[in-house]
Amino acid sequence: MTGRFITLEGGEGTGKSTQIKRLAKALEAKSVKVLATREPGGSPGAEQIRKLMVEGEPGRWDAITETLLAYAARADHVSRTIGPALLEGSWVISDRFNDSTFAYQGAGRGVDRETIRRIDSAVLDDFQPDLTLILDLDVSIGLSRANGRPGSENRFEKFGGDFHEKLRQAFLDIAKRNPDRCRVIDASGSEDQVAEAIFAAVSRRFDL
Ligand code: TMP
Repeated sequence: MTGRFITLEGGEGTGKSTQIKRLAKALEAKSVKVLATREPGGSPGAEQIRKLMVEGEPGRWDAITETLLAYAARADHVSRTIGPALLEGSWVISDRFNDSTFAYQGAGRGVDRETIRRIDSAVLDDFQPDLTLILDLDVSIGLSRANGRPGSENRFEKFGGDFHEKLRQAFLDIAKRNPDRCRVIDASGSEDQVAEAIFAAVSRRFDL
């Protein structure tokens, strides 16, 4: 694949979608062709699966069903959106990818890591992001930002504070285990500061 695949990860309200828009603009200013996408979602079928995952009550799905929904959406997203874009040389920036399943369904909801790893390997083979930016933020600040959003659709915001603290630790743990792929970004600064930190990490990684 000729493009680059960058993912942004982190808990609720860490500012990923704002930062993806900023990063896309900064890369486009360097004449890079960019496709911004998201998970769950990013293809028509996966957007339908997204609704199943993010709407309704916390207990709507058990943890393993939720894991399989995430990977069903991901399989469609990779084969119909991400893969073709990379093949034509675009840089793909995804708001969440497989680390979110290890954090939310694994650390948060208790599916063991080896089970997720096996599903991951069956669905994705060795396909991995080239770079993952983990936006790290105090959980109470993130949740209050997320709850303040108009039309907030998200079922996962209704899981308790403990759940979200586990997610934060899980993302930091993923970063520690994958130091070549992951960079932790302090998301507590201003929007400009975070955008600068992200662009610096991307520039260093890809020699821009
Ligand atoms: P967001 O894109 O607004 O963050 O909402 C997506 C929600 O879906 C978010 O709460 C995290 C959750 N999610 C999972 O639980 N597992 C996954 O694999 C992915 C990609 C997202």
